[in-house]
Amino acid sequence: METKIAVLGAGAMGSLYGTMLSEAGEEVWLLNHWKEHIHAIREKGLTISSASGDRSVFVKATTDPTEIGQADLVIVFVKSYDTRDAMSGALSLLREETMVLTLQNGLGNAEQLAEIVGERRLLAGTSGFGSTVLAPGHIRHAGSGDTMLGELSGAKTTRLEELRRVFDSAGLRPVITENLQGVVWGKLLVNVGVNPVTALARVKNGQILDIPELKDIMERAVGEAFEVSCRKGITLFPAGDPLEHVREVIRRTKDNVSSMRQDIEKGNQTEIDVISGAIVREGNALGVPTPVNALLMNLMKGLEKGSRNNQSKLR
Ligand code: PAF
Repeated sequence: METKIAVLGAGAMGSLYGTMLSEAGEEVWLLNHWKEHIHAIREKGLTISSASGDRSVFVKATTDPTEIGQADLVIVFVKSYDTRDAMSGALSLLREETMVLTLQNGLGNAEQLAEIVGERRLLAGTSGFGSTVLAPGHIRHAGSGDTMLGELSGAKTTRLEELRRVFDSAGLRPVITENLQGVVWGKLLVNVGVNPVTALARVKNGQILDIPELKDIMERAVGEAFEVSCRKGITLFPAGDPLEHVREVIRRTKDNVSSMRQDIEKGNQTEIDVISGAIVREGNALGVPTPVNALLMNLMKGLEKGSRNNQSKLR
């Protein structure tokens, strides 16, 4: 049976997931307040550029959640700082059994969503895909990796298995986890090492490994985050050397423009507070020093505020 899916925050990643699910035969609605993007998709479909060429796909898209009605599944891909407002403004999508799945970057998204939709509706995970918005209605699919999916309780439920089946037929490489916290922290270590460094140095992910000074900063930031995760008693996923895992993701996404660099270049707020900021907060609470993450966080805040001021001066 067809699953009715609403993607809350259909930017680069949400548009990619929504379109792949729609191509697999699900009823999908892309939801975003960015009018130009939604208008372009409604008029000409969403164009996806990838290594195998360009394709345009017609998929339903709207800026108004009430146009969608109730959904079986809501996939949350909004920026972490928009989570509360976006979900509160889209409660019309929910009926009793609607599942809400967050695949957002950073720490604390599931907790925020649980306060709004209730923990029983919530599933969480991480995405190993990479995507960039090139223009309204046009994205680049920059890389693929596993989509980790789990219940907050770690239980293996029928609805989780159903979600796995739906994602599998769309080519989204689902893997069920019983260790959601370890998965979220494993991805957090990647974002801690990659996102601020690429945004500050304006490089693609892969260049971190080519430029020794950047590689050194990345390794120090990840090292601190690893220390915090150990002190919290988290069993990171994947198992093994966490730094080697981060290097492996960097190699796999070497041509990506990270989401944080995309945000800075668009003059948008970034997710630094739930990435490096989360490590600084958790480190402070546990007495683990995190000077490199604190420096990266402060530089990013300066860059965010500075680029907003510079933009207003240009106007
Ligand atoms: O935020 C991102 O850009 C992605 O999570 C990642 C894995 C760093 C790839 O660019």
